Amino acid sequence: PLRLGVLASGSGSNFAAIAQAIADDTLNAQIQVLIYNNPDAKVAVRAEKWQIPTVLLNHRRFPHREALDREIVQTLETYEVDWVVMAGWMRVVTPILLAAFPNQVLNIHPSLLPSFKGVRAVEQALAAGVKITGCTVHRVVPEVDSGAILMQAAVPILPGDTVASLQARIQVQEHRIFPPAIALAATMP
Ligand code: GAR
Repeated sequence: PLRLGVLASGSGSNFAAIAQAIADDTLNAQIQVLIYNNPDAKVAVRAEKWQIPTVLLNHRRFPHREALDREIVQTLETYEVDWVVMAGWMRVVTPILLAAFPNQVLNIHPSLLPSFKGVRAVEQALAAGVKITGCTVHRVVPEVDSGAILMQAAVPILPGDTVASLQARIQVQEHRIFPPAIALAATMP
């Protein structure tokens, strides 16, 4: 099984989708550890259900990004992780993390990259007036949201869509493509 370390900041619906795919045996993997950075993140509660170890690394307690990433690397190594999966990790990562896991860091982003990089991608798509957006699983490189694309799914923008309604439809697709995209990445290391 692929030994995953998941980094998450928020509600953890993608974390849950990965854990469910593993439980269903549609993804041959194991989540060794969940690292989260917000003490209130709901993802930590979800991890209990799956009995997955959690480590809180509050970015506010580190002087700079590199110091946080150094602690992340150490934690991932302690839990014997091979693949780092950013599932709603809202921090920019540094070469410290990427050098420790070369080509083995994956991210999901709520747009069809290379459109709408960065924060608030769903808002950006709505504001731009595009009729189709979606989600992307890609490898992580130092430049934000710019690594090689592994899998994408398209989502139509419907009349009357709000950020919440559109985000909910994008997330359905995220949960569908993230597990197979992880498996795909492992076939082409
Ligand atoms: C996901 O929609 C993911 O695409 C997005 O955060 C959400 C996390 O939801 N990530 C980014 O915006 C990365 N810049 P979740 O906590 O329910 O998985």
